[in-house]
Amino acid sequence: MKMISRRNFLKASAVVAGAAALTACGGESSSPAANSAGGAAGETAAGKKVGVCIYKFDDNFMTTYRIALEDILKTKGYEVTTADGNNDQAKQTEQINTFITQGVDALIINPVMTTAAATTIDLVKNANIPTVLINREPTAEDMAAYDKLVYVGCDAAQSGTMQGKLILATENQGDINGDGTVSYIMIQGDPENIDAKLRTEYSVKALTDAGVQVEQLDLQRGDWDQVKGQEICANDLAKFKEKVEVVFCNNDSMAMGALQAIQTAGRTVGKDIYLVGVDALPEALAAIKEGNLTGTVLNDATGQAEMAVQCMEDLLNGTTYASGNQSVYVDYVMVNTENVDQFTVSADSKA
Ligand code: GAL
Repeated sequence: MKMISRRNFLKASAVVAGAAALTACGGESSSPAANSAGGAAGETAAGKKVGVCIYKFDDNFMTTYRIALEDILKTKGYEVTTADGNNDQAKQTEQINTFITQGVDALIINPVMTTAAATTIDLVKNANIPTVLINREPTAEDMAAYDKLVYVGCDAAQSGTMQGKLILATENQGDINGDGTVSYIMIQGDPENIDAKLRTEYSVKALTDAGVQVEQLDLQRGDWDQVKGQEICANDLAKFKEKVEVVFCNNDSMAMGALQAIQTAGRTVGKDIYLVGVDALPEALAAIKEGNLTGTVLNDATGQAEMAVQCMEDLLNGTTYASGNQSVYVDYVMVNTENVDQFTVSADSKA
């Protein structure tokens, strides 16, 4: 596993997509073809076709990611076609087959279901297409089946830990009513997704590891969706009232929904409730500045898009990945009132 720190140029990458230099993607070995094909990315891009599969277009974070990816690829001269999987694995499988039939040179795939990864990997392997998987990490065992395959994403546990730390950084470590226990609700993404699983687990673990007692009042799946986040939070606030001290949301869209519910219930973030998300969407950054969100965790869409393209180019140049070493991670970054001003988001990177 590679952990590539990008902290130093986060600010720049949030403003100017594709402007920063990247470290190597991290393939284990290069075939002789890599040397003969080697050279500037621009040379390899000419006339090359890239198929991009997104699990669904109707997802705020993945919209930012998709736009960044398309921009970078097009700027480099690739011919890009992007397909909307509509959250339907059968549909995405069909789209991958179509891309293969059309003879794409490389694929970048955001899987609908990681449980279907083995089938996807089989398809691209049989067609011998260099493939970068993004955003939803399959198991190392599934990936080991094909060496022209790499996963680019983030270490989901890290984002969960950071959410917990955002709560620990508050003046009462989340224990607003001072009863010795942090009572929380957890609004989860799609539970099939490892990001949802690990954020749920590690956000709470950060508190218990720090010796803080916790009580889970509720855990509901909100499928990364703002409306669902609002509904779940509204119901829980009506049911548990002041008992709710912390609202953990696996992403910012759901946190923005939860914020609507919090405000409708007459509660105030930072005063009688804490709220955290993940992604650092523009609206979440604005909410932090206004004091309506305790914090978020930057899920660096531009950085991941740059890394995905870099890995794709390495694959096109003949780099292969040894099993057990096929995941490349971009760092998450904690964001709260202390550092929110560093995260300027350009109009271009907005969903
Ligand atoms: C997560 C992100 C969510 C959602 C999800 C889709 O990394 O935080 O907002 O986009 O990916 O798989």
